[in-house]
Amino acid sequence: MGKKYSLFLFLLMLVLVLSACGDSDNASGEGGSDDITKMTIKFSHVVAENTPKHQGALAMKEYIEKESGGKIKVEIYPNSSLFGDQDEYQNLVANNIQFIAPDLSKFVGNNPQFNMPSLPFLFANDEQAEEFWDGEKGQEILSSLTKDGVLGLSMWPNGGKHLTNDKRPISKPEDLKGLKFRTQGGQLLESIYKTLGAGSESIPFGELYTALDQGVVDGQENTFSNIESKKFHEVQKYMTVMNHTRVDYAVFTNTKFWDSMNDATRELVEAGIAEGTKVARAEAKNLNDKAFEKIKESGEIEIIELTPEQVEEFRKVLAPIYDEYKDIIGEDVIEAALEISKK
Ligand code: LMR
Repeated sequence: MGKKYSLFLFLLMLVLVLSACGDSDNASGEGGSDDITKMTIKFSHVVAENTPKHQGALAMKEYIEKESGGKIKVEIYPNSSLFGDQDEYQNLVANNIQFIAPDLSKFVGNNPQFNMPSLPFLFANDEQAEEFWDGEKGQEILSSLTKDGVLGLSMWPNGGKHLTNDKRPISKPEDLKGLKFRTQGGQLLESIYKTLGAGSESIPFGELYTALDQGVVDGQENTFSNIESKKFHEVQKYMTVMNHTRVDYAVFTNTKFWDSMNDATRELVEAGIAEGTKVARAEAKNLNDKAFEKIKESGEIEIIELTPEQVEEFRKVLAPIYDEYKDIIGEDVIEAALEISKK
């Protein structure tokens, strides 16, 4: 073989090797790399489309599908269409679905520290709640489900809850006496109603409209976006703007699924969740404000907006709950949250 021919072959090989590297870099940037595993992941949740949770899930889906060049497909199942409150967690544990973003107060049975978002009148806004759950104590609580093979990834807010009921306008603590309210579940929510002389029952979100319509319970507490998107205001006569407890979520995944991904795939999915977090956090207040306007415009429900003095009455009556739950939630956790709430 002549020297010239060998040099030609060497250069040709070099060009081929370099162009292959270029392809792979480019493809991984566009998500078309061989490193990204082809798969379908399922995200199941219980609320409607016009909510911060669904908008966050959509942003996550769009990012992951686009950046993986279509290799990863994300299927979102809203409105309890695949699994409801009763079975979404078990199905995550079984890896039948890969993501859920449930209301944290539904996890008090797994860890009583999840009573946190129900501490009365704690956080004034989403940012304070985000700061708590992004911080050391919040992250510790979110990590506590690893014993079930479940990983807490990122907190998504919804917002403050308000009371609706079918019996009477509520503007002071005594007005709740004898009424029965649906709760998301959770000891602390029960304690709130007990303290106010009312009863409570935990009912899955997917069954709530019917329960309200049929008078199984007299009322419920929820965010404006949940009330409006599920039309609860059409089957309730009164709504008191309370902001006394919160709906906050975390995106949970199955640990085995998470660990089974190669680094490139996991990083891409992680970036998708970060995108979802950005949108859910940006949209929460916006969607709740819009939903409140729609509820007002509908004229379907009498709205009671409390004066600061009336809020103070509720706050005073419910204050002993902090002491009652000091050992259950942890004094250090409550202190960390109170610190943030003073900012
Ligand atoms: C509820 O059950 O009322 C809410 O927690 C539903 C949700 O996920 O926002």
